[in-house]
Amino acid sequence: MRLILLQFMEHFSKSKINSMERIFRLNLINSCTGYKSANLIGTSSNEGILNLAIFSSITHLGSDPSLLSFIVRPTIVPRDTYRNIISNHYFTVNHIHVDDIEDAHHTSARYPHKISEFDITKFETEYLNNFPAPYVKSSKIKLGCKFLNKYEIKENNTLLIVAEINDIYFEKDIISNDGYLQLDKAETVTVNGLDGYALPTLINRFKYAKPKK
Ligand SMILES: Cc1cc2nc3c(=O)[nH]c(=O)nc-3n(C[C@H](O)[C@H](O)[C@H](O)COP(=O)(O)O)c2cc1C
Repeated sequence: MRLILLQFMEHFSKSKINSMERIFRLNLINSCTGYKSANLIGTSSNEGILNLAIFSSITHLGSDPSLLSFIVRPTIVPRDTYRNIISNHYFTVNHIHVDDIEDAHHTSARYPHKISEFDITKFETEYLNNFPAPYVKSSKIKLGCKFLNKYEIKENNTLLIVAEINDIYFEKDIISNDGYLQLDKAETVTVNGLDGYALPTLINRFKYAKPKK
């Protein structure tokens, strides 16, 4: 059995991973931990220049209080999202609809600070309840968030941003009676690696798991 398995399984050891060509390793490591969330973060600079960028590291951190976190790459080059959040603390998180993947991906292009991705792509702004950061109009699930803290990840010079979820907007038919947002009803995409977008379908939900008697 072990022999058969080895015949079909590839194995990369640490030394092989370390000696890989850069882009090959980037694709491998970005995909080996599984599907990730894909969201657009909307911010505004203090001068009113809007910014929109795709992030795949946004994860819920806890529900009481309602927190999320995400990773900002090393700030050795200008990072508009990061700078805007640090200067005025508010940002939006917008799910990416299946019809929007091409433009969503394009928000990762490095445009100068003065150019807004809202002008370059088809995404339109939406302002809700006097929240200071722009939402994405076509997004079916969107969050209004406030920066709380940042933590330096010394191992690779990245930053972990922690924020509170202040507002949640979604189309009414997406939510179940128990509060669960069924993301396939929103046609929210997920990302495989850094450039592959997929549309998941819910298979089943299960009861809270308890040990078997
Ligand atoms: C699928 C995908 C996921 C990304 N996830 C992140 C991320 O989690 N953190 C990050 O710092 N950059 C991430 N990026 C890169 C940013 O989108 C890119 O650096 C963008 O230019 C940042 O824009 P800003 O300078 O306007 O903030 C991702 C790019 C792609 C294509």
